[in-house]
Formats: sequence, structure tokens, C-alpha cells
Amino acid sequence: MVKVVEKYSYAKINLYLRVLGHREDGYHNLDTIFQEIDLADHMVFSFTNDQLSLISLICEASPCALEDNLVYKAAKLFLKTFACNFSVAIQLSKHIPVGAGLGGGSSNAASTLLALADYAGVAHAQLIPLAKRLGADVSFFLFGGTARGEGRGDKILPMPSLQGFEYVIVCPDVHVSTAKVFRALKESLTQKANHDIKQGNFFSPKLLESEEFTNDLEEVTFGLYPELRKAKQQLEKLTSYPVRMSGSGAAFFIECPNSSEGQKILDLVGHQGYVGFISKRVFRNVGEGKERGCGNN
Ligand code: C5P
Repeated sequence: MVKVVEKYSYAKINLYLRVLGHREDGYHNLDTIFQEIDLADHMVFSFTNDQLSLISLICEASPCALEDNLVYKAAKLFLKTFACNFSVAIQLSKHIPVGAGLGGGSSNAASTLLALADYAGVAHAQLIPLAKRLGADVSFFLFGGTARGEGRGDKILPMPSLQGFEYVIVCPDVHVSTAKVFRALKESLTQKANHDIKQGNFFSPKLLESEEFTNDLEEVTFGLYPELRKAKQQLEKLTSYPVRMSGSGAAFFIECPNSSEGQKILDLVGHQGYVGFISKRVFRNVGEGKERGCGNN
């Protein structure tokens, strides 16, 4: 018998992103706030209890080979780790732009882990080490909502849900390589004196509303993709609200107090030829206060 499960796999933005320095494992220590938003890919999982452990993935717009897709890697890692012998066929319909700093691939991987865990009866808390192996942003999507990310961005600390506001997400037609951005950042950090390397505890809730609210990757991304600097300048002429970049780019977000303001900005952005979306925050009912386990434990 086939069991079918549908899931929406949501995007994220980084409300704030500081780079604190580089790590021996080649990654960078971050201090960031993730916000899950309702821009989503759609996933359908069909499970068969056939003792075969087969994985199939259908994705009409996959940017890479099947074996390189994070969804496939997540399913393979799960079946191996928990010695499962059921098969899963996964259909993925992409709506989240790729290479935009919106975490689409990481979200798809986390949704896959969660779907397989629910089918197999595995506690969500057991997914954390798997998520960390798959990529720095995957852990956040096991929990979603609003959360602070430390370490590589995979030490997830819950935050109270932020109220109100909607986001206009603007996606210039540029595919940013996160690895390339962090590599360029590493070179620029290495060239600086130690006291210039950002260290310490920068976050305070007030920063979310202040001018200091910042993304340390922005200048590095703009150095590699100058068309994004121009896009930001163009967007800043359309609105008095701050225009901010998510993750390593290329997407920008503009926080608006309500839908009608958002719609006005979206229309202006559309007239400039940009793809844009209005997104709301996604809330998840999870505990707050310390590093999270998962929702079902
Ligand atoms: O983990 P993930 O595959 O998403 O990371 C993509 C790239 O970004 C990696 O090449 C990694 O070196 C870099 N990165 C980093 N520091 C982080 C997160 C990612 O250097 N905290």
C-alpha cells in the first residue's frame, strides 16, 4: 500500500547577519536571525513498504543532477542512518528562487527529513545531526518560525515570534554562489588586522528596527555581483523602507507595515522588471528559551 504525504517547504530570510570570524572547519561563525516566510515549494512524498529502500525524485526545474540534489541526499542519509527498508518517491515543485539566499534547497532537505521521520516513527530530535551534515541552514528548517542561528548558523535558539509586518521579497535574476561569497569574505578577513575581524555578541532586539541592522555579506556579494549593488540602489529609490539582502543574496526584502503598502511596493518593483512576492511570517508552535530539540519531543 502507498502512503502519500504533502508538505509545503517554506523559504527564510535573514533579518540580520553578522560574521564573527572563520573556523578551522572552513566555515564561518555567524550570528543571524532567521525568519521563516510563506513563500514555499510544494512536496509530495509517496511511501511504499516494499523492503527495497529506493528513492526517486521528480523535479521539473532541478538545477543539478539527481544525486547532487539535497532532497535526494537527505532521503539517502535518513534511510541509511535508521536502516529503513521502505521506498519513497518524491515530487518537488519549485517556487522559491534558487541561488537567492532564501534557503530553498535547505528547506526541501529539512522537509524530506521530517516527512521520512514521521513515516518511520523517528523522533524529530534525532534529525539534528543529519541536518548539520547536509548543510548549515538545514537545521533552522527543522524548526522554522523566528530563531537565532549561531556557530555555522546551525545552533538554533528560539525567539519570540515577531508581530505584524509583511515582506516584499525582490529576486533579481542573478544566481549567487554562497560558497564563492564566503570564499571572498575569508580572503578579505585574512587581509585585515585581527581587531577588524568581527567578534562578540552583537545582537539586541532593538537592532531589528535600527539602522545598524546589517548583513555583513552584502558588500562581499556586491563586490562579486556588481549588478546587485545597482539593484539595491534602484529599489531604495522606490521606497522609504529599508532594503535588505537575505543571506548571501541575491534576494532583497523590504519590511512593510501592512498588505496595502506591500502591494504598492510590489507594483513599483514589478514595473522595474523584477520578480517579487509578498510574504508573511510563518509561525510555528515550538518552545522558546534554549537551544531547541525538535517539535515532537
Ligand atoms: O553548508 P552549506 O553547503 O549551505 O554552505 C555553503 C557554503 O558556504 C560552504 O562552502 C561553506 O564554506 C560556506 N559557509 C561558511 N560559513 C557558514 C555557512 C556556509 O563558510 N556559516
